[in-house]
Amino acid sequence: MSTTSAAPQTGSIEPLRELFYAHYRFQYLSAAFQFGLFELLGREPGLNRAQIADRLGIENQPARILLLGCTSAGLLRKEEDRYFNTPVSEPLAGKIDDVPAAFVPWEQHVNYRPMAWFYESLKENTNVGMQREIAGTSDTLYGRLAGDPKLEVTFHNMMGSVSRLVAEELVQQLDLSAYTHLLDIGGGTAVNATYLARRWPNLQVTIVDLPSVAEAANAKIASLGLGDRVRAIGLDAFNDEFPKGCDAVLFGHFLEIWSIERNKDLIAKASRAVEPGAGIFVVTPGADDDETGPDLAAALSAYFQTVASGEGMVYTCAEYEQWFAETGFEPTGRLYVGGLGDVVISGVKR
Ligand SMILES: C[S@@+](CC[C@H](N)C(=O)[O-])C[C@H]1O[C@@H](n2cnc3c(N)ncnc32)[C@H](O)[C@@H]1O
Repeated sequence: MSTTSAAPQTGSIEPLRELFYAHYRFQYLSAAFQFGLFELLGREPGLNRAQIADRLGIENQPARILLLGCTSAGLLRKEEDRYFNTPVSEPLAGKIDDVPAAFVPWEQHVNYRPMAWFYESLKENTNVGMQREIAGTSDTLYGRLAGDPKLEVTFHNMMGSVSRLVAEELVQQLDLSAYTHLLDIGGGTAVNATYLARRWPNLQVTIVDLPSVAEAANAKIASLGLGDRVRAIGLDAFNDEFPKGCDAVLFGHFLEIWSIERNKDLIAKASRAVEPGAGIFVVTPGADDDETGPDLAAALSAYFQTVASGEGMVYTCAEYEQWFAETGFEPTGRLYVGGLGDVVISGVKR
C-alpha cells in the first residue's frame, strides 16, 4: 500500500450525510413545486404556516413537515412565523416551462423512480429503470414517451428549455454562413432549427425525428411562419437512410444517447448523405478528457444507462473527433457554448 498519498480525513460523516439526504431534499423541493408553494410565496411573501396550509389545501402537520424540510434545505427562509422564498427557490416561482423549473417535473415524473434501478442497470448493462417503471414496449425512453402524451410533454418542455438556452448562444457563435441546407438529426421540436433559420435567412433546415415528434415540430414550424424553409420528416435514424441534398449535418443532444458502435454508424450514415466539403456539428454536454467530471456528465451518463437508452453516456470530445476521422470527416475544432456546459465539435467531409 502506498504511504505517500494523503490519508482521507476521518471522523466527519457530513459529506456522506449530504449524499444520504439528497433524495429527501429533492422530494421536498418537488412537493413544494407541485403544490405551487414557491409561486404562492412569490406572490404573497411572508405568509405564516396556517395561511400556507390553507392556500395549499393541506392539513397543519403535513404543512409543518413541508415547511421544516424546505427551510432546512435552504428553499425557504423563516422570519418569526413568516416564510419567504430564497435566492435558491426564487427561480422556481415564475416561468414553469423554462430552465430551471422545467427540470422539476422532468426529474420527478420521468427519472426519479427509474433511477432507483441504477445498480441493476449497471449490472445488466441495460436500462432496467425504464423497463421497470415506464409503461410501453419500446427499448428506449423516446419510444415509450410516444405512448404517454403527458410524459412526452414533460420531456419536450425540459428539452425545449435546455435547447432554447443553448440555441440562444449557439446562434451567436456557430458560423453557418457557408451552408445552405442543414440536416438536423433527432431535431426534436425544432428549437435549434428555428433559432438557426432565423439567424441565417438563406438557410433551409430539414429535421429528422420520430414520427410523433416530427408532427409536433411541423405544427410549431407552421405556427412560427417558417414552413417555407424548415420542415420535419418522421423517420427512424437507425432503420432509415438520411435524406440527401444537405451541405451540413447537426447532431444536437443526440449522440450521447447511444453506444459507441451506433454513433459510428450514425456518423457514417451522415457521411454517406453529404458531399465533400459538407460540415458536421455535434452539440453535446462535454465530459472532461480525463473522465473525472463534470457533475453534469456524471448525472446524464447515469440517466442514459438507466432510463433513456441503456447504452449511451457523455463521451469526450476526443472520442467524437476520432469517430469523425474514422467515418470520412476532418475534425475542425471545439466550441464551448452555454451556461449548461455544452460543446460543439465541428468537422468537414473530406
Ligand atoms: C435529447 S433530444 C434532442 C432534441 C434536439 N436535437 C435538441 O438539441 O434539443 C433527442 C431526440 O432524438 C429523438 N430520437 C430518439 N430516437 C430516435 C430515432 N431512432 N430516430 C430519430 N430520432 C430519434 C427524440 O425523439 C428526441 O427528439
